[in-house]
Amino acid sequence: MVFWLYALVLSTKEHLNEKGFAMNKATDTTNGGLKVVPSQNLLGADIYGVNLKLPLSSEDKQFIEKAWADNLVLRFRGQENVTPQELTQFSNALGDLDKRPVRGTVNGGYNDLPLEINVISNIIGDDGKPIGGLGSYEADWHTDMSYVDIPPKGCVLYSVEIPPTGGNTSFVNMYEAYNRLSDKTKQKIANLKCIHDASKNSTGELRQGFTEVTDPRNAVGASHPLVRIHPVTQQKCLFLGRRKNAYIVGLPLNESEELLDELWAASTDPELKWTQVWQLGDAILWDNRCTMHQRDSFDASSRRLMYRTQIRGELVMG
Ligand code: OGA
Ligand code: MN
Repeated sequence: MVFWLYALVLSTKEHLNEKGFAMNKATDTTNGGLKVVPSQNLLGADIYGVNLKLPLSSEDKQFIEKAWADNLVLRFRGQENVTPQELTQFSNALGDLDKRPVRGTVNGGYNDLPLEINVISNIIGDDGKPIGGLGSYEADWHTDMSYVDIPPKGCVLYSVEIPPTGGNTSFVNMYEAYNRLSDKTKQKIANLKCIHDASKNSTGELRQGFTEVTDPRNAVGASHPLVRIHPVTQQKCLFLGRRKNAYIVGLPLNESEELLDELWAASTDPELKWTQVWQLGDAILWDNRCTMHQRDSFDASSRRLMYRTQIRGELVMG
């Protein structure tokens, strides 16, 4: 008995050492009616047996949280006709939700949505203004709102209307990005902090009230450790935010740029990536602490409408 327990601990350890905590297991896992099927990539999994229209039992919630920690991004497929209220309720089961800014991106006919719902869309409303954020442009690699002191821990994005092609959303595994760095680079960045510029959104638009940054050393935004400890898994991951106007505190600008280029090249390696090709009724739940995401552009004349919620996070611990 003791021997078998010891063997189990050893084999688990080996698995962790060899593959890292966040690696997907090759096998499917089931629990009652729920099933998680990891992608073939280093993050991402489908969850079956959850209906986003219904309240979550505490068992299902625990199962989802474990699958989320293991796989970083979860996809709930076939969730047709989920209302904004139901999406809010589902998201709220995973934590407190941030409210969209009063002067946020919701215009026209969508103002009656719950304040926890943000609209991501290129559709133009009756008033001639976009009804949501991000247009049809590419959204460059980023972590959501890392320019604030307490960035969100995760987001849920639900597809209501999708274009025939394009507008896919990709994610990278930032535990793996960290694990793959050389020991020398790991040592170098161990105690460094980076300023996360708040002036531009992920499609490169200047935010209201900000001026164009000409020198990253003057960027305005939160500063966070480059290496963060994930509060759930206790594993280290790289925390980069976005590349534009990023600055590593205390370094000469050229050294900051060089080091950031190295870290960004490591993090956006296609091997670390999983791409969500949207189907109608897909909902994606991502961990905003240990992933970055990017969205492809799409034909501006087609319609894309997503509802999005944002789960409140915690201080970034290095
Ligand atoms: C976001 C985002 C990507 C997308 O909502 O934070 O980056 O696919 N969206 O719309
Ligand atoms: Mn985003």
